[in-house]
Amino acid sequence: FNNPLGCTMSDEKKKAVLELLARHRVPLIEDDIYGDIYFGEERPKPFMALDPHGSTIYCSSFSKTIAPGYRVGWIATGRHMEKVLDSKFAFTLCGPALPQAALAEFLSSGGYDSHLRRVRRTFRDNIDRMIRTIDRVFPRGTRVSRPDGGFVLWLQLPKPLASRELFEAALKKGVCFVPGDVFSASHRYANCLRLSCGSAWHARIEKGLETLGELACALLTRQQRNGSPARRRHRVAQG
Ligand SMILES: Cc1ncc(COP(=O)(O)O)c(C=O)c1O
Repeated sequence: FNNPLGCTMSDEKKKAVLELLARHRVPLIEDDIYGDIYFGEERPKPFMALDPHGSTIYCSSFSKTIAPGYRVGWIATGRHMEKVLDSKFAFTLCGPALPQAALAEFLSSGGYDSHLRRVRRTFRDNIDRMIRTIDRVFPRGTRVSRPDGGFVLWLQLPKPLASRELFEAALKKGVCFVPGDVFSASHRYANCLRLSCGSAWHARIEKGLETLGELACALLTRQQRNGSPARRRHRVAQG
């Protein structure tokens, strides 16, 4: 699932990308870390499952489904085994043995599937609650993504609201999010932001969202009254 939009690509489009890459002999490195956190009936097929050329290098990890602290993941290398092994040895020599043994035991116990079902339910519930709260407390005109999987939400704030200004104000109140321009190399998405829904639902999260919504409403009112920072700078430059 795309981060930060939470959307996914159809199998047809994935196949078309694979054909294009095969024509140019370019391997695809697939990061499918959110693939098991799907909200539909079926898990979306990874590129690797659709690749007739065996040219996809598939990567995933337990960081989003069990815990980031284990730092254990895996790679299915397709026909690039030798090169990937060389790079792995060059970078880390070997992974941590104890966390790998603990995870191997958990997997062989058969508990991972039921864990995944619970995790999917939890993330979907969190997302639903977050969306309901956002609808209630954010300024009119705010748009929220409806992710197909994963646990992040993408918000488009009504212009001229700038998420960087909101970020500075929110940090002072102990609320954190990722401003939209982080996802652009050319400072786009200045009125967007990404919220994480990865923590178990708690009154503190609802309170944090309410604070964020109040700050966004106040900033928008002020910016509409005074003009956006860009327009203010323009006015100053004009004298
Ligand atoms: C999209 C994506 N891919 C990969 C990773 C890396 O996961 P790991 O903790 O296994 O290094 C992250 C971690 O935040 C991620 O967000």
